[in-house]
Amino acid sequence: MNEQAVSILHDFAADAAAIFVADLAAAVRQRGVASIVLSGGGTPLSVYRRMAASKDIAFWRNTHVFWGDERLVPPDDSGSNYRAAREMLLSEVPILADNIHRIKGELPGEEAAVDYMEQLRAWAAAHDPGAPNLWPRFDVVLLGLGEDGHTASLFPGSPMVAGAPVIAVSADYQGRPAGRVTLTPPVFNDARHIYFLVSGTGKADAVYNTLNQDDPVRLPAQRICAREDGVLKWLLDRDAARRLGPLNGSRHP
Ligand code: 6PG
Repeated sequence: MNEQAVSILHDFAADAAAIFVADLAAAVRQRGVASIVLSGGGTPLSVYRRMAASKDIAFWRNTHVFWGDERLVPPDDSGSNYRAAREMLLSEVPILADNIHRIKGELPGEEAAVDYMEQLRAWAAAHDPGAPNLWPRFDVVLLGLGEDGHTASLFPGSPMVAGAPVIAVSADYQGRPAGRVTLTPPVFNDARHIYFLVSGTGKADAVYNTLNQDDPVRLPAQRICAREDGVLKWLLDRDAARRLGPLNGSRHP
């Protein structure tokens, strides 16, 4: 495992929100535009609510929001990652509707994947012409971690090489919608800032195993690694970090 920075956040939601808003604001200052890939599930919701405290019009006018994965359900479904982010964040800030780039979960999986890939290509062409591939180099990527070690919708035992930047998959996890569309590691790994955002005692084993073992087939989060000119950080609460022992200088081999 390459060395990864691990930070235990004292006030998980507030500290994480501050980090993400600062990264996005720096991107707007430097390049006039910022992009964030949101993760799904329950962990980030308190962070999204804290991010909604930032009401700066110029910031939100120039920030674009994407998703790392989505369940194949309609956008108003209780299982939709888009709906959760809309309720906690997007409906509370002056973001332009055109800046919200959702995965269309109401479509069949393959169609939704093709549609999202086209959205990524078009956005990169318009806003990130220097991007080395057909997708943007995102400024901020948020990733959760399942108790089974999955991240986004990359599940244990899934193919190491997905064969496409955006894929449709099916997986059973905690009774959540099985049909999903997900970005794949090449897209995540191109980002400038990659953050695993993990909280709760139930994740302690998955965090420990991901950071200390070497089995990217069984531990898909190990497929995520930053470029030389990118950063990958683990942002944990004390419960999720409880098996890691003392973190000298918040770095963990
Ligand atoms: C999803 C997420 C998924 C999530 C983990 C953790 O669509 O469910 O993208 O990867 O981040 O399952 O979920 P919790 O935060 O709810 O534990």
